[in-house]
Amino acid sequence: MLVDQNNSFGGNSIEGFQVGIVGSGYVGLVTGACLAHLGHRVRCIDKDADRVRKLASAQMPFYEPGLEELVSRGVRSERLSFADPEALRQLAHDAEVLFIAVDTPQGHDGSADLSSVAAVARGIGRALAEALPRGGPSSRERPLIVVNKSTVPVGSGDYVSMLIREGLGEGVGEEPEETAAEPEAFVVASNPEFLREGSAVYDSLFADRIVVGSDSREALDTLRALYEPIIEQSFATELDPRPKVAVPFVTTDLVSAEMIKYTSNAFLATKISFINEISNLCELVGADVGEVAYGIGLDGRIGPRFLSAGIGWGGSCFPKDVSALRAVAREYEHKTPLLEAAVSVNKQQRKRVILKLQRELRTLKGKRIALLGLSFKPNTDDLREAPSLEIAELLETLGARVVGYDPVAGKKVASKLPPGSMRVVYDPYEAISGAHAAVIITEWEEFRDLNLERVASLMHKPPLLVDGRNALDPREVRAAGIRYRGFGCGYDRG
Ligand SMILES: NC(=O)c1ccc[n+]([C@@H]2O[C@H](COP(=O)([O-])OP(=O)(O)OC[C@H]3O[C@@H](n4cnc5c(N)ncnc54)[C@H](O)[C@@H]3O)[C@@H](O)[C@H]2O)c1
Repeated sequence: MLVDQNNSFGGNSIEGFQVGIVGSGYVGLVTGACLAHLGHRVRCIDKDADRVRKLASAQMPFYEPGLEELVSRGVRSERLSFADPEALRQLAHDAEVLFIAVDTPQGHDGSADLSSVAAVARGIGRALAEALPRGGPSSRERPLIVVNKSTVPVGSGDYVSMLIREGLGEGVGEEPEETAAEPEAFVVASNPEFLREGSAVYDSLFADRIVVGSDSREALDTLRALYEPIIEQSFATELDPRPKVAVPFVTTDLVSAEMIKYTSNAFLATKISFINEISNLCELVGADVGEVAYGIGLDGRIGPRFLSAGIGWGGSCFPKDVSALRAVAREYEHKTPLLEAAVSVNKQQRKRVILKLQRELRTLKGKRIALLGLSFKPNTDDLREAPSLEIAELLETLGARVVGYDPVAGKKVASKLPPGSMRVVYDPYEAISGAHAAVIITEWEEFRDLNLERVASLMHKPPLLVDGRNALDPREVRAAGIRYRGFGCGYDRG
């Protein structure tokens, strides 16, 4: 363990750990920057050489508020560094804690694709074998704590252990069974991540809880010490008052920790689908889902969050995690009708945008539609499972011409699209100009500040706004002479 006496930006003198993180994406990079901010020495590894090179001079691979500053500080203080996978050997020797934070995308059958995690686990085993003197795994003073931060199905902790052991066996030229008999050079823990893109740094430093699962007491104690400045909320922050007094540290077994992550996302996705189902009923009976959500959300048992009706959920986590949880259930021949319904309601919501446009414009052939907001949610440029891409494709199939605008994701979208599909522009008024309808797909704050009179004057007449996130005040939009159609507002029929 390193003793750090001079934490210039944190202001705390804490005993910093030597930490390795494999995977420098949204989760790995944010975790690395935050741990460095707490006073630990962190080396982030990635197989993407271009990403590693740019990160070394604090150039961000994606948009995430507050991250660039934290990474710059980390690099300047030499607490945060970046390297290619070759550095695993050194880390296997020096690090006390090694996180796995690589991608686990949805596989063809809906289950989580663990190929990146498996490659890293084997690599850690081989690196451990190389890092240790010929005496065998027991010659490492204390076991390396390998922490799975990637979202993985139940049982993956044991799977990772097995692969590390196999990698170790390959490295020292022994059968895995023989290597397994040695005192362990490593232990595996699960530490699921709950950050939200768009507020990832805040969510990491002011977490609602930290969950750690392991069968090893030593691993649980080490991880508690690693996170202590967050648990105790003792790290330096400019926020006054601090949003949190203390952060619950939940320790459990490996399988329960893995289950907590999937259950969390499945519950939130279901909550959104639930309010969307209610919102569709509100449209029929003439109620306002915003009022309904407010009324039920005041009930402490329900809570006000994740009750916004609209286009539904997308992004890099909810779709794949719900799908992976259903795949786990299938392995046990267990049915998950509630999750199936959540997915099916979500699919319908995207189509409802098209239905609303068709109801107002009749045919969409030859119509110009402006999509406002392309990232899957505000404050990120992440396009994974972004509703905008599917809606644009559906509109084009129906003969419409689509123009898209996003405050930060525009260039990323433009580079992904085949020629002849959605045209991306870099000014919201340019997108709206001449459009028969504008659709708010992502509720970026700047759309609330649009000059609605200008919008009305630029659009094809009569102008129409479909608010896929119920983000604008219908009265203000109507006052500017624009037809407004939201989600779950019964009075929209008028
Ligand atoms: N993004 C989120 O909001 C979020 C939130 C919670 C949990 N998670 C989970 O965390 C995990 C990571 O997600 P992410 O969004 O950070 O993914 P990401 O795709 O942004 O980043 C993954 C990184 O891992 C690197 N990588 C892959 N294989 C590698 C290897 N063998 N060696 C070195 N680097 C390798 C990739 O190059 C990439 O930079 C996933 O399991 C995800 O489900 C994500």
